[in-house]
Amino acid sequence: MSDMIEKKTNEEQNISTVNAISYLGKLMDDALLEIDLEHYITDANPAAKRLLGDNLIGSFLNKRINYKDLKDELKTSIKENKIIEFTSTPTNNKYHQLRGRLMPINAQKVAVLLMDMTLQHNLEKMRRDFIANVSHELRSPLTSVIGFIETIQNTTNIDEKNLKRFLQIMEDESKRMSRLIDDLLSLSRVEADEHIAPTGKVCIKSVLESVISTFNDRATKSGHLIELIDNRNDLLEQPIIRGEVDEITEVFHNLLDNALKYSFLKSSVKIKITDTITREIIVDITNKGEGIEEKHIERLTERFYRVDKGRSRQMGGTGLGLAIVKHIVNKHRGHLHITSEPKKHTNFRVVIPKSNSLLSNLENDN
Ligand SMILES: Nc1ncnc2c1ncn2[C@@H]1O[C@H](COP(=O)(O)OP(=O)(O)OP(=O)(O)O)[C@@H](O)[C@H]1O
Ligand SMILES: [Mg+2]
Repeated sequence: MSDMIEKKTNEEQNISTVNAISYLGKLMDDALLEIDLEHYITDANPAAKRLLGDNLIGSFLNKRINYKDLKDELKTSIKENKIIEFTSTPTNNKYHQLRGRLMPINAQKVAVLLMDMTLQHNLEKMRRDFIANVSHELRSPLTSVIGFIETIQNTTNIDEKNLKRFLQIMEDESKRMSRLIDDLLSLSRVEADEHIAPTGKVCIKSVLESVISTFNDRATKSGHLIELIDNRNDLLEQPIIRGEVDEITEVFHNLLDNALKYSFLKSSVKIKITDTITREIIVDITNKGEGIEEKHIERLTERFYRVDKGRSRQMGGTGLGLAIVKHIVNKHRGHLHITSEPKKHTNFRVVIPKSNSLLSNLENDN
């Protein structure tokens, strides 16, 4: 009897060992495989199939990942009965980053754990790039200010005209640094609470009218005409969305600023409001100018991305305007669409649900 129990236990143990990878591996988000000394894959969990592609069992691991020392490391792992760590990329996706571990099961088989580190890797890269960008953007105006301070200090009998010119440049550069810091703070604020849907009510048309009024002087100087067109189905209804008035103002302020900045002199900028039967408000801001080539469009909302860095910087831009717009629009459960025909029209479309839309009602009920 006790023999039988012993035998059964052994059998159970065998079954659980045999099924461990494909069966228990279902619980894991990381890829788990079993291979032999020739890298032949004998078992794999679903995550491994998602990561390395179909028909895994019966194929060779060294054809699925780029890891040239695999053969030697397999032997070492078995011989020294130790876990070996490595990094690699899958052969079917060179942009993925993997961290792997080899662990001997017995004299013939090795378990391989593959962790997809792409997200962490990309986040780390984004963080590094961001710090490098911020430092660079702050350093250039700061260098200029320090340079002029030194010039003033080291020049005896500096004439008033030059002094005024230097001070003007120093003022412009200092304001640029201050704008950059304001934009960074604004971006981090909206990023932090992007998941919280706004609760206030905002009349889009009033916001647009007030934003336009702040640009009127500038438009008159550059000979631009700003037109507001209300093309909604029911003009008696107020175009109200669920939102934060300061944030919505910032969206249209940035978009109108761009429309004026990047359009031909004396051209007109059109702002059109429409609505849809799915109860969304659409605002199109269209300007006529050099436009944006297709390849740049999807990157425009990245922080610090500018098509022509020199030109935008000369105009006092920080390259954060559209990143802020995108995050605020996302927070308002809306969408931003950008289309452009170089040398012709560029259109920035903001779509936001109305405050009494189905979506907003549902959120309100909860
Ligand atoms: N209406 C437009 N027409 C052509 N290019 C545009 C337009 N709007 C934006 N761009 C391009 O997109 C880039 C990113 O715009 P964004 O508003 O984020 O930065 P910016 O205007 O350079 O600086 P700021 O932070 O002051 O807004 C601009 O540098 C410009 O190259
Ligand atoms: Mg801008």
